[in-house]
Amino acid sequence: MLNGNDKKGGERMTSNPFDISGKKAIISGGAGDLGRSMVAALRDAGVEVVVLDIIENLHEKVNDWSIPDKAKVHGVKVNLADRGDLAQGFDEAVRLLKTVDILVNAQGIQRRHRAEEFPISDWDEVIEINLTSVFLLCQMAGRIMLTKGYGKIVNIASMQSFTGGFTIPAYAASKAGVAQITKSFSNEWASRGVTVNAIAPGYIDTKMTAAVKADPVRYPRILARIPLGRWGTPEDLCGPLLFLCSPASDYVSGVIFPVDGGMLGT
Ligand SMILES: NC(=O)c1ccc[n+]([C@@H]2O[C@H](COP(=O)([O-])OP(=O)(O)OC[C@H]3O[C@@H](n4cnc5c(N)ncnc54)[C@H](O)[C@@H]3O)[C@@H](O)[C@H]2O)c1
Repeated sequence: MLNGNDKKGGERMTSNPFDISGKKAIISGGAGDLGRSMVAALRDAGVEVVVLDIIENLHEKVNDWSIPDKAKVHGVKVNLADRGDLAQGFDEAVRLLKTVDILVNAQGIQRRHRAEEFPISDWDEVIEINLTSVFLLCQMAGRIMLTKGYGKIVNIASMQSFTGGFTIPAYAASKAGVAQITKSFSNEWASRGVTVNAIAPGYIDTKMTAAVKADPVRYPRILARIPLGRWGTPEDLCGPLLFLCSPASDYVSGVIFPVDGGMLGT
């Protein structure tokens, strides 16, 4: 039997529960290896997107990604390590889109040192960019989504949300933190129409994982633990992303969704 909440959820469903055309999205770190394919997936699904990123030639890149007859892609250059700049960049994104329905946090940096030598300056930088900026952007976007009673937040977590890794203690701490704040925001916001989930990519063939791929000992060990028998590609994340951004996932919140070729099951 339907209760009031069930009915509300059912009413939101469109005839195609995966239809997100006309929605407005902000993707932080959207100029990165994974971000770029997520921007393209949302654009191709009819979503107008603002990319928040620090890369030098952001505006030229964004022009390349804007395709006639597809939803528009904008760029706002921002340093997410600077809290004032982050707030200004977010406001500019909302000004361009007029609102925000979808937030994807795909920013991230990696610093590698032995644990006993890990510099505190690198720790601070990784935590600020990988965790604090995710917290702040969730909070800012969430305030707008809560007033509308609908929104989709997808944070990009990691296998290091579950494991400690090697030589990456700050990254592992930041990604475990991303998983935890995903659940914290979900606990408070899901009943108010804003779902908050994370995607935990496995080993994806990008510059961030190049050091591991080049390691003659670790690479075959990792590959042997992936039931699908291959590393992932940035495109492998797009189906799960579109699902988590669409009404098809309206009853899914607080989940850390591994996209890892089955690795976590081994
Ligand atoms: N590549 C992988 O295999 C993998 C696996 C698990 C998780 N992840 C996570 O996925 C996300 C994207 O990773 P990626 O491989 O695309 O990395 P990437 O380095 O290609 O992309 C990260 C993006 O964040 C941006 N960024 C970094 N610092 C910034 C700052 N101060 N201000 C604004 N933007 C900043 C970069 O410019 C870049 O465009 C990250 O959160 C990463 O931790 C990646």
